[in-house]
Amino acid sequence: MLLEINDIHKKFGGLVALQGINFSVGYGETLGLMGANGAGKTTLFSLIAGHQEPTLGSIIFEGQKINRMRPDQISALGIARTYQIVRPFRGLSVLENVTTGALYGAHKIRSIKNASKFSREILEDVELKDRAEDLAGSLTLAGFKRLELAKALATGPKIILLDEVMAGLTPREVNEAISIIETCKRKYNLTVVVIEHVMKALMRMCERIVVLHHGEMIAEGTPGQISEDSVVIKAYLGEQN
Ligand SMILES: Nc1ncnc2c1ncn2[C@@H]1O[C@H](COP(=O)(O)OP(=O)(O)OP(=O)(O)O)[C@@H](O)[C@H]1O
Ligand SMILES: [Mg+2]
Repeated sequence: MLLEINDIHKKFGGLVALQGINFSVGYGETLGLMGANGAGKTTLFSLIAGHQEPTLGSIIFEGQKINRMRPDQISALGIARTYQIVRPFRGLSVLENVTTGALYGAHKIRSIKNASKFSREILEDVELKDRAEDLAGSLTLAGFKRLELAKALATGPKIILLDEVMAGLTPREVNEAISIIETCKRKYNLTVVVIEHVMKALMRMCERIVVLHHGEMIAEGTPGQISEDSVVIKAYLGEQN
């Protein structure tokens, strides 16, 4: 297994954001992470990427325990995440934003020239090449989401954690995003974990889906199994009523 989540708990003061989470991600897999608002999805990404520490439990990446490591050390091992709330350097160009990612991370590109060259290739992969010299702040929402993906890819990851990179996009933009992610996955030999509220996208992309509800894992299975799971259906319909 590439990534193992073992009995993870996370408390924020009295609030239990995650409890008893157990699952693993295999090499080359696309795993979906689903759950209503506040379920703990983003928190789980923050724990994996080292931005927060679990209250209990361990996270193992390629056989090595990574919780307690710093985010830059985890990035250097080959784990990249995107952010649900995008914060590009708005005053830098799109290319410069990606280049900052390329200078850090797993592949040890240390010259700005090489980092910039690699970043141009990634901008082509995410279909933002034409905007390379524009200020990042001038992008549309779909552009910001692609930039997030590009910044993460630029670190040369083995696994990429995508936090709602399709939220707010039009159906057409969602289709384009799926195709970009799948192309990059093949090209860079990636394992993908994807948080998404766009159910159809998850169903299309993922081999397996994990469902969180109020910090607990309530289901794990293929998209077909999840869509017919009575506990999942009850959790979702229950919240709408
Ligand atoms: N840094 C923090 N301090 C305190 N509480 C937090 C913190 N981060 C998250 N939480 C709380 O933990 C719970 C899980 O939040 P999280 O952002 O992980 O949910 P989510 O599943 O990503 O939701 P969404 O679909 O809205 O993005 C929520 O109740 C949230 O308010
Ligand atoms: Mg979230």
